[in-house]
Amino acid sequence: MDKAKIAILISGTGTNMAALIYAAKQSDCPYAIVLVASNNPAAAGLKLAAAEGITTYAHPHKGMHREQHDRLMHDAIIESGADYIALAGYMRILSSEFIGKWAGKMLNIHPSLLPKYKGLDTFQKALDAGDRHAGCSVHIVTPALDDGPVLGQTEVAIMPDDTAESLARRVQFAEHQLYPKILAEYVSRERDPDWLIAKVGELALALPETRYRESHGSPAWRVGPTSSGKFFAHVSVNHHGDDRIALLVKTAGPDEMAALIEQDGETYHRPAYYGASGWIGVRLDRPNVDWDHIGEWLEHSWRSVAPRRLVKLQKVAEEF
Ligand code: GRF
Repeated sequence: MDKAKIAILISGTGTNMAALIYAAKQSDCPYAIVLVASNNPAAAGLKLAAAEGITTYAHPHKGMHREQHDRLMHDAIIESGADYIALAGYMRILSSEFIGKWAGKMLNIHPSLLPKYKGLDTFQKALDAGDRHAGCSVHIVTPALDDGPVLGQTEVAIMPDDTAESLARRVQFAEHQLYPKILAEYVSRERDPDWLIAKVGELALALPETRYRESHGSPAWRVGPTSSGKFFAHVSVNHHGDDRIALLVKTAGPDEMAALIEQDGETYHRPAYYGASGWIGVRLDRPNVDWDHIGEWLEHSWRSVAPRRLVKLQKVAEEF
């Protein structure tokens, strides 16, 4: 399986960046670091990344509008081929334009047990509050600062004589363990059959009168009455050893199928057995699956087999 490609953004020392780079050297790590970029050309982490043979990019933000600077970073990231961004001490507030482009594809590490203590001075805040634990969190980046869904946390006990500095040092150890692990889990779930099946299921069951029913041992979804319903979607997992996870949906027939495969052979294939009756395979186990597109396919397939009364109702609903 191809590794997910990660761009890391830093502003300073880059110890979390180093932890990610070294974790990525393990052969079973599901990601590779393809770029380290910074708003600070003097960031120490850039030198370390370059020494490890990783492409680096730096552009100071001084005198630039936020959006302008973010666009430069975005272009460098696209150029690197990265699928995901890991923020690791990137001390810039990002524009909503940039965050929108990387929605669900950008993680951050923050030195507190979120939702506690967003922003700066997290250790002093934990000490002042008399907390028993400080810690760190990895979360998905959303427009509000340090606010997106938390993917993982590590608690770090506060000791009686701790200062903000001593606590910061210990939390760093925890960060260096947590970030590589959570990033690995996050990029892997998009290739995990259970996660993909659940995601298809959510979309399939959002269509009218649909239900889940296994077919030949594979997950599948039907439309219509329990007795006379018809299948409109299957997920095939490594079917006959073809080493892929794919959504199978109905096409209009062999011509449409051939045209799609010729247009985009990475996404589409003719599945064994099912291909003969007009089902096409849409690959799910790759980065950047367009889930809106998958939703459209499901609806298209649903329409082709749903009872006419349901299709009509759906059209009326859409007109409102
Ligand atoms: C870390 O404490 C991280 O939680 C925060 O910025 C700091 C970066 O440190 N977002 P480093 O540059 O990785 O050493």
